Amino acid sequence: MRQAGRYLPEYKELRQKTGDFLTLCKTPELACRTTLMPINRFDLDAAIIFSDILVIPEAMGMPLKFEENKGPVFERPIKTEKDFDNLITPPLEENLSFTFEAIKLTKIELNDKIPLIGFCGSPWTLACYMIEGGTSKTFEKTFKMMYEQPNFLLKILDKLTAILTEYLVLQIKHGANVLMIFDTWGGILPYSKYQEFSLEFNQKIITALNQLNAPNIFFSKGAFNHIDKIVKAAPSCIGIDWMSSLKHAQKVIGNKIAIQGNLDPSILISNTTVVEKETEKMLRQINKGTRHIVNLGHGITPDASPNNVETLIATVRRYN
Ligand code: CP3
Repeated sequence: MRQAGRYLPEYKELRQKTGDFLTLCKTPELACRTTLMPINRFDLDAAIIFSDILVIPEAMGMPLKFEENKGPVFERPIKTEKDFDNLITPPLEENLSFTFEAIKLTKIELNDKIPLIGFCGSPWTLACYMIEGGTSKTFEKTFKMMYEQPNFLLKILDKLTAILTEYLVLQIKHGANVLMIFDTWGGILPYSKYQEFSLEFNQKIITALNQLNAPNIFFSKGAFNHIDKIVKAAPSCIGIDWMSSLKHAQKVIGNKIAIQGNLDPSILISNTTVVEKETEKMLRQINKGTRHIVNLGHGITPDASPNNVETLIATVRRYN
């Protein structure tokens, strides 16, 4: 999760030279180079392709900008059914060829030393951005739609599910070894609506990937109340955030499904001693038999220190 990015001086330099973030995503050579930045610097077990979850709505016909200090902005958010009807089902091989090309180039560079993770946003998370027009503190427009026009929202989620499934399958075809679904906003849903508006659709994507034997990771931030239902959706691995209890997650998940994450991203803005202590504390909580992929409980933040990332990894390597 933001394995590459603004905490790395080499990223900042490349981004300064090339201008904007989306240009990096859309130029396969640059996306490949950025993907490899953390791999060249740290002793990591996997790479994640450099792109963004929002390239999908953009390909559906929603112009996208990333504004400095504001994040993503859609010029024309979905307000009416007509706005939605104007969106297209994009020919993905063509419109998102930059991602597939970046995957191909990165696979050559990685030379099968470590696997490459492909990804997408969850239908619910993408719908939040497409309806709000950007990020939001309250997601009022999305919730208003959920309560007043639930069938319209379900129609949006359904269309996204079909497109995202195809997108992930194409990523596998071009060389991705593992697929991760980011349900960043799953946890903001009322308890009683999580299944209907988030998990139901993610379940469909997971099932499609399982049918292809494609290893997959489902990360639903803030969804600690729903782990039992997520287990039933049967992803290969469940990502958990830093607010969740790892002990509780292991109890509910058991040994069949792997677990990823759980470290608080903020330890990386602290000091070496804190990083070592917190990492060891988490490692000690892992039960015998749990297959745990060490990761943060969300993305690396711009103020994280690369030195702390190195300490985190060294602490894991030392642990026995
Ligand atoms: O980990 C990686 O290196 C892979 C690349 C990756 C990015 N975004 C690059 C990125 C991945 C996996 C994502 C996923 C993503 N994008 C999510 C889901 C995971 C999460 O973080 O919750 C979401 C919600 C987005 C949408 C998005 N992209 C937002 C809200 C922002 C702005 C954040 C901010 O701090 O300004 C982005 C920008 C973004 N995506 C950056 C990177 C490296 C920063 C771009 C820059 O300014 O150079």
